[in-house]
Amino acid sequence: MKDLLSIADLTKEEILRLFALAKELKERKKRGEKIVPLLFGKVLGMLFRKPSTRTRISFEVGMFELGGRAIFLSEEDLQLSRGEIISDTAKVLSSYLDGILVRTFAQKEVEDFAKYSNIPVINGLSDIYHPCQVLSDYYTISERKALQNLKLTYIGDGNNVCHSLILGADKLGVRLAVITPKEYRPKKEIISKVKNKKNLILSHQPEDFIKDSDVVYTDTWISMGVENEREERLIAFDGYQLNKKLLEKAKKDLLVMHCLPVHRGEEITDEVIDGPSSIVLEQAANRLHLQKAILATLLK
Ligand code: CP
Ligand code: NVA
Repeated sequence: MKDLLSIADLTKEEILRLFALAKELKERKKRGEKIVPLLFGKVLGMLFRKPSTRTRISFEVGMFELGGRAIFLSEEDLQLSRGEIISDTAKVLSSYLDGILVRTFAQKEVEDFAKYSNIPVINGLSDIYHPCQVLSDYYTISERKALQNLKLTYIGDGNNVCHSLILGADKLGVRLAVITPKEYRPKKEIISKVKNKKNLILSHQPEDFIKDSDVVYTDTWISMGVENEREERLIAFDGYQLNKKLLEKAKKDLLVMHCLPVHRGEEITDEVIDGPSSIVLEQAANRLHLQKAILATLLK
């Protein structure tokens, strides 16, 4: 694999190899081996057109811990902001860098970076995918439960995180129920990529699925870029909040996940995200290890 643009591009074996490497790097760090110089002297560019806490810092620290370094490229500081085209930027950056992480709006822009550069391109979130997040999340689940036939329920917006969860579930044999309001279903083009359709249920009724779920996952109703739809979204998502009442019939060992940042009191209550079932901080911490596995695999 040259790039990581979408989970759809990975095989199950490639995903499991990333998990194994993340596990090894995590254990080595725990044993005190903080720097593992697999990418000694390599440089990652990180272009962000949207804000980030976890993705930016985990990749930046990840490069450092692999013996390389990262350069943060904010949109405003590049000539892209004055109209330089992607193909020119991508070709030039290819001659300086060993890899580039791109967080942006249109997926096409990430794909264009990959098309015009001869270095690995990593999708750090686009409007339709968030592969690094979701690979890390399935890794986090795998530390606690077997993925094959696991029952995962995603409740909320059929957004980038949801799309990547769908593609990852298909690769990994996870049984996934996606519960959204009708107008916020995942995109048909993503559903059409799913090979094992019997493992995917799309519904609008949260109550039907919670009691059988091993894991329940939610994300913000108002992703970056759709802030102007806030009022209508808050109305449409009424009834889709992950709260104590909804989880009353859940299994005792249910795991609750959220990629963060959270809009507390909207998609999830404080009580649930801070409660005993929540593994959101584990999820966030594992971003570092899984991101290092992606970097070591693509940039080596
Ligand atoms: N979950 C996630 O990608 O967080 P950031 O937006 O902070 O990077
Ligand atoms: N769906 C969210 C994820 C943030 C990490 C967004 O795109 O804003």
